[in-house]
Order: sequence, then C-alpha cells, then structure tokens
Amino acid sequence: MAFVPFDDRDGWIWFDGDFVPWRDAKTHVLTHALHYGSSVFEGERMYGGEIFKLTPHSERLKRSANLLDFDLPYSVAEIDAACKETCAKMGLSDCYVRPVAFLGAEQVSVTARNSKPHLAIAAWEWPSYFDPEVKAKGIRLEWAKWRRPDPATAPSAAKAAGLYMICTMSKTAAENRGFADAMMLDWRGYVAEATGANVFFVQDGVLHTPPVDAILDGITRQTVIEIAREKGIEVIVRHIRPEELATFSECFLTGTAAEVTPVSEIGEYRFTPGPLSLDLMEAYGRRVRRQD
Ligand SMILES: Cc1ncc(COP(=O)(O)O)c(C=O)c1O
Repeated sequence: MAFVPFDDRDGWIWFDGDFVPWRDAKTHVLTHALHYGSSVFEGERMYGGEIFKLTPHSERLKRSANLLDFDLPYSVAEIDAACKETCAKMGLSDCYVRPVAFLGAEQVSVTARNSKPHLAIAAWEWPSYFDPEVKAKGIRLEWAKWRRPDPATAPSAAKAAGLYMICTMSKTAAENRGFADAMMLDWRGYVAEATGANVFFVQDGVLHTPPVDAILDGITRQTVIEIAREKGIEVIVRHIRPEELATFSECFLTGTAAEVTPVSEIGEYRFTPGPLSLDLMEAYGRRVRRQD
C-alpha cells in the first residue's frame, strides 16, 4: 500500500473550535511547540461508533497540559464532544483519534507568558499498530538505549511530545534492526515501558507490571488490570529488574494503539504467547466493543 503523507489527505480537522479542510490544518514555523516542545496529545480509539474511555483521555489531555504549566480553554465535556464531532464529520465509526494541544506562535521565547494554547483533533482509520501476523506470534523487542527520566528531571506523567523524542529514537533504531519496538528502562534501571505502550509479565498465573512513577499511566493498562482482577487473576504492581525477565513465561504490551499485544522477545529474554495473554487480549477486545 502506498504511503499517503498525513498532510495530504481528504477530510476535516477540528482546529480551535472549527472544522478546517484537512490540508489547511496548518500552524506557523515559529510555533512555540516546534521550538520548545510545548505540546501534549492523546491517542484514542473509536470502536463501533464509541470512543473507548473518552472522558479519561480528555481528562489526561488537560492534566498533561497542566503538568506543562498551560491550561486548555475547553472543559473535558467540550473536548469529549469535539472528539465525537470529528469522527462524525469524517464519517468514521472505527478509527484512531488524535487530539493535540500546543502553544502557538504568539511569541518565540523560552518563556511562554504570552503564548496561547491551541487544540486540534484529527481522526483516521488505523486498524493495527503492529503487523497482525507478527502480533499473533508475539512481537520482538530490543532494549532501548534511552531511559525514562526521573519525574524530577521531566514531567514524566504527562503525555507530552518532548518525552517522545527518546521513544522515537528508540523505536526507529529497533525497526532499523528488524525489531517491532524497544523496551525502555527508567532512570533507576527498572523495566519501564515500550515506546508507546505499557508492559505486563506473567509468572505462575500472576501478572506483574511496573508502577506508574516514571511511565505513562496507560488507560489500557488500567483497563487490563481491572479485567484481570474481575477474572480473579492476581496483579502485582512493583518495580521489575531486567534480569528478572528470565523468570517470566509470558509478556504483553498494552496501549490504545497496541491494544493487548503478546511479546516473544525482549533482548536476550524469550516468552511464549500463552493462555493468559491470549485470554486478556480477547477480553480487552470484547470490553472495547461493549460485548462483555
Ligand atoms: C509511552 C507510552 N506508554 C504507555 C502508553 C499506553 O497508554 P494508553 O493505554 O493510555 O494508550 C502509551 C500510549 O500512547 C505511550 O505512548
């Protein structure tokens, strides 16, 4: 399939309260966010006409902006409504939704005192984040060379564009070497998360996952913990050292884009997509489509 650049597509983008033709949804090169990283965003999925966990996503968007010391001039309810309107305007009922909030071109300076927040929302069809054939067998990850920063170094709880540069470099390097993704450690050396997804491990029927003290508090992660506990599966949230990976039988990633994706390999460690991962993958698929 030919790659269609994202700035040359048909459709509409919600931009500061109005719909603009997709190709005209532009911002100036002197936009603060482009120079200083003042941008936060969300990634959401609509399944069968409903955006899964829409309000928690809109709440996280506002929280992320606040963590970067700016405030969005829209309520959570207004952002929810704009996301739904964007999907409707695009005629989509199964799609990915990307709200992005950023400081504009009012002032080029490290200070943001005179900068104004802007919000844009785009939606497009995006069936699978990882190749579906590879996903069924489990994806292969290498160790990332970059580490998730200490929350005292960067606002690591925010879904902020600036924090993604280390993710972009890690994922691009991994793909260049034939891997699907990279697993990051945090600044202390604990297992953190993949470049766009959280991680879970299985040991004797129990799930183990890192706490959210240096990683994104994933909404899919929260959902999978909830589903697992409803099923009577024990979930232990704790720091995990890389060498402990030898003691886990299964591993999977969770994320809005990745959904639940089994992992077969992280660096020198091997996993077999097993019953627990596959059960949670199916259960998550039913939950997002309101079939459970
Ligand atoms: C770095 C990172 N961690 C975790 C996640 C998973 O978050 P969520 O489940 O809310 O999509 C994402 C998803 O975008 C991510 O980019």
